[in-house]
Amino acid sequence: MKDPLMVPVNKVPEISVVDIHNVKLETDRLILRSFTKNDFEVLYGLRRQNEVVRYLYGEVHTPEETRKVLEQRLKMTTLDKDGDKLILAVEEKTTGAFVGDLVLILTNKASCQGEIGFVFNPDLQGRGSGYEASQAILNFGFEKLGLQRITGRCDPRNTASAGLLRKLGFKQEAHLIENVWAKGEWTDELIFAIRSSQWRQLLEMM
Ligand SMILES: CC(C)(COP(=O)(O)OP(=O)(O)OC[C@H]1O[C@@H](n2cnc3c(N)ncnc32)[C@H](O)[C@@H]1OP(=O)(O)O)[C@@H](O)C(=O)NCCC(=O)NCCS
Repeated sequence: MKDPLMVPVNKVPEISVVDIHNVKLETDRLILRSFTKNDFEVLYGLRRQNEVVRYLYGEVHTPEETRKVLEQRLKMTTLDKDGDKLILAVEEKTTGAFVGDLVLILTNKASCQGEIGFVFNPDLQGRGSGYEASQAILNFGFEKLGLQRITGRCDPRNTASAGLLRKLGFKQEAHLIENVWAKGEWTDELIFAIRSSQWRQLLEMM
């Protein structure tokens, strides 16, 4: 007979440790792939633009800073501990053009939490690439890694970023007031999130 006092124990959530040395994800129009040492020009071309970094916390990169960023990216080989990042270059399949980059950060392994970020080339924005590529990395986060929840953060003035997160199915959970000192002023931050159950529901509806 079952003990009536026995409380059912939920399965302990667990993250799969994934080798991210040479990731390649594919969507209808895009390829998402790991960075290589040959990506200096495209990365510098993106990060040198004022328009691109307007709502990012950092400034435009010098060539030296870009080299350091690229070196760091080449050393990222596993998603295993808090703060580990999967950063992917996004390319158009037909032209091979570098559209931008996407990041998925393992923010809290014990609680299966992640965070998404995206930076796309102004010349190639507004074509649905941010949406298409983000769907692929979200799917990787939920299905391959086993994340429970993925957040996205942006400055409220960054309507493109907030709009993209909403279109992906994220819900706004907070509006933090003047919590970031960035570029000489106190700025607000919107916190968005989507859970794995919501993601699966969205996939079923597609
Ligand atoms: C945010 C960003 C990645 C969007 O990329 P994108 O490829 O242009 O996005 P998409 O074309 O896939 O658009 C998807 C949705 O985002 C929203 N969106 C995109 N650009 C927008 C804009 N300029 N204004 C308002 N909403 C916008 C819309 O909801 C759009 O859906 P719709 O076309 O059906 O209206 C891009 O603007 C970017 O790289 N910005 C600079 C870097 C940055 O600020 N990154 C975010 C840091 S938090």
